[in-house]
Amino acid sequence: MLNFFSVKQPTRFQFVQRLFSTHKPKIYVTRVLPDKAMKLLDQYFDYDVFQGHSAVPQDTLIKNVKDCVGLLCLLTDRINEAVIHHPNFSKIKMVANYAVGYENVNVAELSKLKIPVTNTPGCLTEATADIAMSLILTTHQRFLQHDQALRSNQQDTILNFQKDTQDLNLDPLCNKTLGIVGLGRIGQALAIRARGFGMKILAYNRTPKPEVCHQIGVEELGKMDELLQYSDFVSLNCPCTEETKHLIAMEQLKMMKESAILINTARGKVVLEDDLIYALKNGIIKAAGLDVLYNEPQVNPELSKLQNTVLLPHIGSATTRARTGMGMLAAQSLVDYLIHKKWPKNFVNKSVFI
Ligand code: DGY
Repeated sequence: MLNFFSVKQPTRFQFVQRLFSTHKPKIYVTRVLPDKAMKLLDQYFDYDVFQGHSAVPQDTLIKNVKDCVGLLCLLTDRINEAVIHHPNFSKIKMVANYAVGYENVNVAELSKLKIPVTNTPGCLTEATADIAMSLILTTHQRFLQHDQALRSNQQDTILNFQKDTQDLNLDPLCNKTLGIVGLGRIGQALAIRARGFGMKILAYNRTPKPEVCHQIGVEELGKMDELLQYSDFVSLNCPCTEETKHLIAMEQLKMMKESAILINTARGKVVLEDDLIYALKNGIIKAAGLDVLYNEPQVNPELSKLQNTVLLPHIGSATTRARTGMGMLAAQSLVDYLIHKKWPKNFVNKSVFI
């Protein structure tokens, strides 16, 4: 393995020149980040920031990376081959993705160019686990229907809700089983929350984690199919990779109980959305709580018509603490690598160092 210092070091002349230069290296930032992170960037870099509130258009991105040595981008930005191989990208030395997931970045292509990519693990674990637990409670208790009935003064509906206990399925959560697919940081944090509600927890992880399961009181299953069969709630907490894309399609939905509820705070593309819609319409499963959608931020109109769904606009990391932590980690990675010439702690393509 090469150490960082095998990256070309400045000559003495360049070093002295840099010492007396006020010139800061240039980076491009695709969204205004929390203040603390912007201040850190400000200290070390010249930068342009895309001021929009949605994904930066590809031509704007390409135009603005010209002469930049670093790119700080969001999950909504596609850092694909067209961007990476554009002449304007030729000076980029590092890409810091402001998210723990990084399926928006063509890491393989950047690795070939020896460009490190970093993500922001650990900052949003608790926030996302809170959202998953909230979706369990909201879908189970049908809070949205109650709220709507009350607001529109549909007293009959409210009474029916109260009478029809079977339909309400108000067995307390302590009699229910939660199946967690993907026992990483967020899956574990969710397990700890759900245990607080007295739920039985099953988990399936691609690489078995017997010690973790033992520590947090989770029963590990060797096959996802078993988990789907036995769970009242199935929570998806895995990353979106080639392997997990469409992990849940009709075949898997049919394995679940008719009374089961699917919770997804991972990625929309882990679920084949058309199959899910069919399953929700036809009583194959009971309900779904989704913080992530297949074509987010667009909502499939069929999905939004359904009463047995709770839909959130990908707010798994939407706490001040999580977003500030993510911003600081992304900014610090750029400072570490581009300014202090240190390997960033959280790079995802270790092959660039070999
Ligand atoms: C992540 O960091 O991957 C989150 O999903 C972004 O909100």
